[in-house]
Amino acid sequence: MKYLKIIFFLIAFQLSAQQGGMWIPSLLEGMNETEMQSLGSKLTAKDIYDINNSSLKDAIGHFNGGCTSEVISPKGLILTNHHCGFSQIQSHSSLENDYLKDGFWAMSLDEELPNNGLFVEFIVSIHDVSNQVLAGLNDTMTETEKQSQISKNGNGILKDWTKEVWQDVKLKSFFKGNQYFLFVTERFEDIRLVGAPPTSIGKFGSDTDNWVFPRHTGDFSLFRIYADANNRPATYSKDNKPYKPKHFLPISLDGIEEGDFTMVFGFPGTTDEYLPAVAIEHITQEYNPTNIAIREAALKVIDAKMKTSDDVRIKYASKQARIANAWKKWIGENLGIKKSNAVAKRREFEATFTKALKEQGMEDTYGNILPEFDRLYKDFSAINIKRRNFIEVFFITNELMNMTIRAYQMENSQDLEAAIESMRNRLKGIHKNYDVTVDKGVFKAVMPFYTKTVDASIYDTTAFTNLDSALKLLEGEPSDVLEKLNNDSAYKYAKPMIEEFYRDINAEFQQKNEPITALQTTYMTALMKVLPEERYFPDANSTLRVTYGQVRGYSPRDAVYYNPVSYLDGVIEKYVPGDYEFDVPQKLIDLYDAKDYGQYADANGKVPVCFLGTNHTTGGNSGSPAIDAEGNLIGLNFDRVWEGTMSDMNYDPEICRNIMVDLRYVLFIVDKYAGAKHLIDEMKLVHPKK
Ligand code: ARG
Ligand code: GLU
Repeated sequence: MKYLKIIFFLIAFQLSAQQGGMWIPSLLEGMNETEMQSLGSKLTAKDIYDINNSSLKDAIGHFNGGCTSEVISPKGLILTNHHCGFSQIQSHSSLENDYLKDGFWAMSLDEELPNNGLFVEFIVSIHDVSNQVLAGLNDTMTETEKQSQISKNGNGILKDWTKEVWQDVKLKSFFKGNQYFLFVTERFEDIRLVGAPPTSIGKFGSDTDNWVFPRHTGDFSLFRIYADANNRPATYSKDNKPYKPKHFLPISLDGIEEGDFTMVFGFPGTTDEYLPAVAIEHITQEYNPTNIAIREAALKVIDAKMKTSDDVRIKYASKQARIANAWKKWIGENLGIKKSNAVAKRREFEATFTKALKEQGMEDTYGNILPEFDRLYKDFSAINIKRRNFIEVFFITNELMNMTIRAYQMENSQDLEAAIESMRNRLKGIHKNYDVTVDKGVFKAVMPFYTKTVDASIYDTTAFTNLDSALKLLEGEPSDVLEKLNNDSAYKYAKPMIEEFYRDINAEFQQKNEPITALQTTYMTALMKVLPEERYFPDANSTLRVTYGQVRGYSPRDAVYYNPVSYLDGVIEKYVPGDYEFDVPQKLIDLYDAKDYGQYADANGKVPVCFLGTNHTTGGNSGSPAIDAEGNLIGLNFDRVWEGTMSDMNYDPEICRNIMVDLRYVLFIVDKYAGAKHLIDEMKLVHPKK
């Protein structure tokens, strides 16, 4: 018995050690295919990516460049997150038709709503072009010479690539510039809104629950892709037809259990997995803390005002969400790095690297990398923080300072008249959601993080805090406008700081950052050469990736364990009538009371809402499908657990978990809550476990 336990432990350990990584879909054959199958997958590499036949990848679309979506019907219906479709849902909303508050459901094709500018892009094929891109490079070249050779080679390849007229090609760098892949893509631009739950379901729990588990959010929305008469990409036309996809995902009604295989297929944005320990220290001990402090100061002002004024609440909803999302993520990142001893572990790894260098006689070539990182980061950290503080204050939190930046860009524009015109429009946009008392409070709170001269009296005299006076400042001859601008109190206050930013701070940042980037490329080369047995995957770069793992709970703190699945019962437990985060729609309560769950309850008669997995995801994976062992859709990725957000630098299978909505909750809401049965009828529901 005891031995069995040990064997079990060894197997379990091996399995968990095999997780993490965001893999290139065209290169899964071999190691990844074997690992996935050992985790329970029945899929082959070709089921996932096949250049000659339809495969899972044909159902995965990059949603507006920042999120992921997947096709779930033969009529081009796609699923993504509520927070990914948020601005489209918001743009169709008004006081009369408040789709944010009440939800939206098109009951037929002609009720579906077009969205200007929204696109979904599919990957047709992926090609390794590293040799062509890196041709002609040698070690005697300077960094600048190398980069210009690379871009010359790259442009040549893109120009000569054979593709259909409706397709695009793009080149992306992998492994810090050690490899290059070319992507043939198809971009659809007629994407219509089909359905969205009310915010009280789609964003249930709001900031309090953001980045945490147990979670009870139905973070989904539905859109449809339309194509031209030949089923090809086209801009909006009322004559366009629902897109007939090469593949769409069947949906499993059998759900998941702890230990089940899961795969997340999508477009992760950015990660930094190969940083030296000194960089992780800089980020978590210097960089994150000042960012967190600035945002905390701003949020304190904004949150207080949002609670006492409905006008402010509506105006600042989306700004507040943006500021709070990263704020909370950074806190979690720091917690996770500390809890997992990531810095010490990275140093141990570096000792292994240094030892291997010695053993292999490569000290002369690569022995200077780590000491050089130490030296460069010491030199870089102050300017990195100074620049970032400027960005946080002038671009992200304070709106008056942001207006002065825009004015500065206007003043320095080649075409002054056009710049004044666009400034006018920009100001109208800003003032739609502007409250001067909030902004002045934010100014007083955040400015001390950047300068010793904090003069809030500029708010009494500047033209920019009021739309009429701001537009008036822009009236008249361009030279008069500039004169008035340079006499404005806020502009006079901000301009020397803005000039210093562009002239000195940004320049020094670039000068000190460039050698770090170049060294990181060499480090990557060295790692793969010196420690070839390690598990290397390329950092996320907004290209299509596969990540896989299993359904697993986790322990966030001593004596606490989170089960991997949450239920509708938990929504009702969290219910606070009338609360801006935890209100629940009456109809959902009624369905719960009547246990009217249709085919969407599990074997115990409960409706699952969210579940956890060990899939290695990041921002951009929002809306990615969670796929079962047979290629069916079981969940919709939308978040990570707090301590696990450090996976952007340090994936640790012990505490890194992604959070998905169970597809049965999505279907329950569409069918039972919204009564949109016609959408369910379009989908293919399957029972792989029965
Ligand atoms: N944390 C998730 C992400 O990084 C979800 C954000 C949307 N939800 C929210 N409460 N703001 O994008
Ligand atoms: N919510 C994130 C997104 O919008 C995904 C969460 C994460 O960062 O993993 O992509």
